[in-house]
Amino acid sequence: MTGYDTLLALLTAQFIANSGIAVTIQATNYNLKVEWMAAFAKGKNNMGNSTGPDYDALMFTSEMMGDLASTGALMDLQPFIKGDAKQVVGIPILEGLFIMYTNWPLLTSVYNISRPTLNQPGRLSFYPDTWQELISVMQRVNATASDPATGLPRHALCLPFKLRITYLLQAVMASIMQTQGFTQGFLYDPLTLEPLTNNTAMQQVMCITMELLSFVRTFESADVVDMSQCAIALAGDDFFKSLSITNSNRQFMGQLTMSPLPASTEVLDRSTMQLVPCTQELCNSQRATQ
Ligand SMILES: *[C@@H]1O[C@H](CO)[C@@H](O)[C@H](O)[C@H]1NC(C)=O
Ligand SMILES: *[C@@H]1O[C@H](CO)[C@@H](O)[C@H](O)[C@H]1NC(C)=O
Ligand SMILES: *[C@@H]1O[C@H](CO)[C@@H](O)[C@H](O)[C@H]1NC(C)=O
Ligand SMILES: *[C@@H]1O[C@H](CO)[C@@H](O)[C@H](O)[C@H]1NC(C)=O
Repeated sequence: MTGYDTLLALLTAQFIANSGIAVTIQATNYNLKVEWMAAFAKGKNNMGNSTGPDYDALMFTSEMMGDLASTGALMDLQPFIKGDAKQVVGIPILEGLFIMYTNWPLLTSVYNISRPTLNQPGRLSFYPDTWQELISVMQRVNATASDPATGLPRHALCLPFKLRITYLLQAVMASIMQTQGFTQGFLYDPLTLEPLTNNTAMQQVMCITMELLSFVRTFESADVVDMSQCAIALAGDDFFKSLSITNSNRQFMGQLTMSPLPASTEVLDRSTMQLVPCTQELCNSQRATQ
């Protein structure tokens, strides 16, 4: 967490210098749920009114929300935002790229799956283009060469360990829940904090993630993903460095395609909270537009 703390200190100093608004940061260990509860509950009397030092912003990763709620650490903000729901907003503060690296030499030579041709000048042809296509590529890989001992595909859908399965779930969720950019949120509605998960779109997310999980192999970090074991890797931008001449995946230098993650052909319509086919109006992804 040292790198993160340094970055936070730097960003805070810049914010203070530019805005003149003093900011104090208090860190607490996420594992100490009691401390989190105290941080949330501080300054609340038995009427539910704020009495003491308040927090203007709380920073945590989205997957912590469930744990915080289950420890009772989340309080009802209604008394504080009477008449103005827009006083509570969620702002993404960190971004981690998630890129699809496709092992074409392997897919072509072993699995007879070829890279789409660039038939439109200036336009990249992405493949697999949708989660369903990714599942079907991995099913073909598994059907051609699964390991008789483990029943797992010889060549996997690889994820660095630090990008835990949660990240795969979140990537699938984002492509389905969030069609108009990040500010829409994918887990909670940023204005009402209503979860976006109690609907048919979430069922679809779970189905896709479950199907993909059968093909997943994880590695300790991006540096040690061995691409010769992977049909496709979903990893951060740091994986790219392992392809350089002195690094472990150098044999794949110039051989892999890098592309955005697959899109979804069906998405959550936020006005009806139903899973609907992607359309030009609803999806910002050209690739998924029917
Ligand atoms: C506490 O909140 C209630 C209801 O919002 C309000 O009527 C009351 O005046 C508040 N008390 C204090 C001390 O601010
Ligand atoms: C490979 O795929 C192509 C087209 O998909 C097909 O025509 C060909 O027969 C396949 N080759 C083998 C060896 O399966
Ligand atoms: C992978 O292949 C094995 C062997 O053919 C099969 O038993 C298994 O069901 C396949 N897994 C998936 C998820 O398709
Ligand atoms: C989820 O949605 C169903 C049907 O709309 C509703 O009956 C149920 O109460 C909801 N559950 C929660 C936890 O919101």
